[in-house]
Amino acid sequence: MRILIKKDKEEVGICVADYLINKVNAFKPTKLKPFVLGLPTGSSPISTYKELIRRHQLGDISFKNIITFNMDEYVGIPKSHPQSYHYFMHDNLFNHIDIPKKNIHILNGNAPDLEKECIEFEKKISKIRGIELMLGGIGADGHIAFNEPGSSLSSRTRIKSLSYNTILDNSRFFDDNISRVPTKALTMGVGTVMDAREVLIIITGFNKARALREVVEGSISHMWTVSMLQMHQKGIIVCDKMATMELKVETVKYFQNIENIAANNMF
Ligand code: GLP
Repeated sequence: MRILIKKDKEEVGICVADYLINKVNAFKPTKLKPFVLGLPTGSSPISTYKELIRRHQLGDISFKNIITFNMDEYVGIPKSHPQSYHYFMHDNLFNHIDIPKKNIHILNGNAPDLEKECIEFEKKISKIRGIELMLGGIGADGHIAFNEPGSSLSSRTRIKSLSYNTILDNSRFFDDNISRVPTKALTMGVGTVMDAREVLIIITGFNKARALREVVEGSISHMWTVSMLQMHQKGIIVCDKMATMELKVETVKYFQNIENIAANNMF
């Protein structure tokens, strides 16, 4: 696992966007060989999306041959709802870049058959030979996508009931009214996320400090589903200083040292 510690949210966004742009450009995607990218919602990736838009406008990246799969979507709110993940993704990224509409895949939380919707989503990912790079955020309780504490670590895309904690947390986006927050969602499973050839998780803010400690210094546990990142051969965390507040000084120094050595090409 690599851990990149940045000063604040803005620096995290610049770092993640830069990482993605380098990956995509090195991959040299074409129509026949597209780059498959997994994407999250939430406040954590916003600075990354802003930076991606800026770099796209500068001509540093094109999304024409990128295919995206979003991690999750609420069940039962219209796509046009400002808090639906459809709306969020278009508002914060897709409307500002050159991605063809047909390349965007977001689960439909209003599908007549939700189970079928999840199965079809998994099939589409397999058909395109899997996800190259999966970007993610986490909840304060360490959930990845909507894989709440107690989710199977080998789970696939499915319907999930949201925990009280998540509903409470996400009520900030629904006028602080918990009765307006959907209670169910469709979500990639932990297994789906971890199948990506590379997984990059954004963790910012003091309220995520305990979760960061669990994923880095704790054991693998279904109570902190992001901890499954420990099993991934190419797992990266990009976090800000506030999120590291619960890590041991030794842990922080160790990971900073590795990155310094790499930056100076000392091995
Ligand atoms: C929701 C999403 C997660 C996201 C989390 C954290 O629960 N399903 O994918 O990581 O919110 O959001 P934020 O980045 O706003 O803290």
